[in-house]
Amino acid sequence: MKDIDTRQLSADDWDELHFPRPEVQDFDRVVERAISRRGFLGGVLAFGSGAAVMGTGLLKGTTAMAQPASRFPFTPIAAQTDGTVHVPEGYTWDVLVRWGDPLFSDAEGAFDPAAGVSVEFADRVFGENTDGMELFNIDGREILVVNSEYTNNEVNLPHAADGTPASLDDVRILQHLQGVSVMEIAEGEAGWAVVVDSPYNRRIHHNTPMTFDGPAAGHALLQTAEDPTGMASLGTFNNCGSGRTPWGTYLTCEENFNGYFGSTAELPSDPVVAAGYQRYGINADGFGYNYHSFDPRFDVSANPNEPHRAGWIVEIDPANPDSTPVKHTALGRFKHENAAYAIAADGRVAVYMGDDERGEFMYRWLSRDVYVPGGDTATLLSEGTLSVAVFEDDLTGRWVPLTPATTGMDAASIAVFTRMAGSRVGATTMDRPEWIAVHPNAAEAYCCLTNNARRGVLTDAGTVRTNAGGDPMAPNGPNPREANNFGQIVRWRPAGGDHAADSFAWDLYVMAGNPTVAEGPMAGSANINAGNLFNSPDGMVIDSTGLIWIQTDGDDSNEGEFAGMGNNQMLAGDPVTGRIERFLTGPNGCEVTGLCWSTDRRTMFVGIQHPGDNGGDWPDHGGSLARSAIVAVRRADGGLVG
Ligand code: FEO
Ligand code: CA
Ligand code: CA
Ligand code: CA
Repeated sequence: MKDIDTRQLSADDWDELHFPRPEVQDFDRVVERAISRRGFLGGVLAFGSGAAVMGTGLLKGTTAMAQPASRFPFTPIAAQTDGTVHVPEGYTWDVLVRWGDPLFSDAEGAFDPAAGVSVEFADRVFGENTDGMELFNIDGREILVVNSEYTNNEVNLPHAADGTPASLDDVRILQHLQGVSVMEIAEGEAGWAVVVDSPYNRRIHHNTPMTFDGPAAGHALLQTAEDPTGMASLGTFNNCGSGRTPWGTYLTCEENFNGYFGSTAELPSDPVVAAGYQRYGINADGFGYNYHSFDPRFDVSANPNEPHRAGWIVEIDPANPDSTPVKHTALGRFKHENAAYAIAADGRVAVYMGDDERGEFMYRWLSRDVYVPGGDTATLLSEGTLSVAVFEDDLTGRWVPLTPATTGMDAASIAVFTRMAGSRVGATTMDRPEWIAVHPNAAEAYCCLTNNARRGVLTDAGTVRTNAGGDPMAPNGPNPREANNFGQIVRWRPAGGDHAADSFAWDLYVMAGNPTVAEGPMAGSANINAGNLFNSPDGMVIDSTGLIWIQTDGDDSNEGEFAGMGNNQMLAGDPVTGRIERFLTGPNGCEVTGLCWSTDRRTMFVGIQHPGDNGGDWPDHGGSLARSAIVAVRRADGGLVG
């Protein structure tokens, strides 16, 4: 043993010194079980041999393994570290729309890179930080509905110190640049463009009127001084991933809503409210939006129930610009990533959802009524059963219903405090569930578990870290690695091929890792090789041909354990063989998030979020400011792209 000055050891180091970890740990065995079996479909590469991830080095240079015939319609590209977008040879990309571009002609020229957008036009332009999106063909017109997740306050409020709002107008600028943009787009000689002034164009933001339905609608927990009915909400917040319904509506998913609230006085002392604040991360400061100093709705000392009115799945009808968005409390309140539907054998609607926070849970909602194409769908998302996932280490799992009988909570409380309901039934703590994708042609679904640096890590007191509800984050079946900086994708197949079934089988489709610098579990699963390195899978959609498109939101330093991964990117995965290839890379500093296709499937729309995080000037080279944007990716020969 080296001579170590024990006075400088952290608690973890001290523990390791005195109680060294066994050669083969429990979590290694869990990893082996999770990925040592062949995939559900009998593929040869989907899962490496246990030895490959047990540190014997077999994983290094997986080129030695026989590769199945490629079904990828493109030549993979190398990792990139520069400031622009790359796609394979034979493909092109163009900018469809940038943050600040006008949706209405009165807002032409409203965006100034030096001054931002004035309050007058903040809700007349495409919002900032594009995220989930879906395309709808309505009466032959292409209507794109897109989330704007958050704002970079310094660039939107260059006159305000540190970008902290100093007036109600400043607050309104930020509020109106987020939310959802509905816009008609059309393809012309010069490529795709927004149809300015289309009657479908609409901005939905932090002050747009909405209604509630489901078990918590009208409940005391949703009532405020301004809205004693508990039915009339204002705004949708931190719109992250997307979803759609089979009946042609858009689902926007409210993720880190907690950050918009703050307090000018003592936090509420009511124990139920306070417990919810603790679990959902609501505090006096928020994330620096400072809404609460100028807009009392966001001051929780004055409006303690206002945060209960955010954190929902919101349904928007893109065909009717005058429609009122509906917050569906039946689908639970948490930090919603996206919403992926499947139709069960009997016609009921299943909606899979993840709660993106370390150690939070994965959910399935199942409608009470069946979906009848062309029938009345107004209340389909209002009544049903919300369940939470419990994974066993033996590659099985089950959906545990969250009901008064299973949780000891009433239906409205289950809806508002869904995380606590999940804890009560022993839900499995996950490594930050991001997007879920349902396979269109096979009874299986996938969830990106992006990373969890605290998984299995001990506190100073020597206990395993927990989520905010006290549920331990020890390594478990689908989350098998300690201090997981790379992420993985879990896949499940419902029993009997029916998305209404209460049980499922699961495996890991991929464990991201870096076989060029690590051995053992951190090298990743056998379908990771030097040519397709990535970390932190996040966005995910499966196209009509069954290819899994994986977008990343990870460390793009290209150094250390991330060496060779380059910028954030989009890869395609074959669900049968497990093979994964890189398709697109974004500019340095960005996250790639949001994906949909034109109706003719000859254009793929890809979102580039926060490209300016490391400076840069994408996409306006020579400009002074990087801008989030959606790019249209096409084949040079006009062929299909998904
Ligand atoms: Fe907004 Fe979890 O990503
Ligand atoms: Ca995301
Ligand atoms: Ca993410
Ligand atoms: Ca993001």
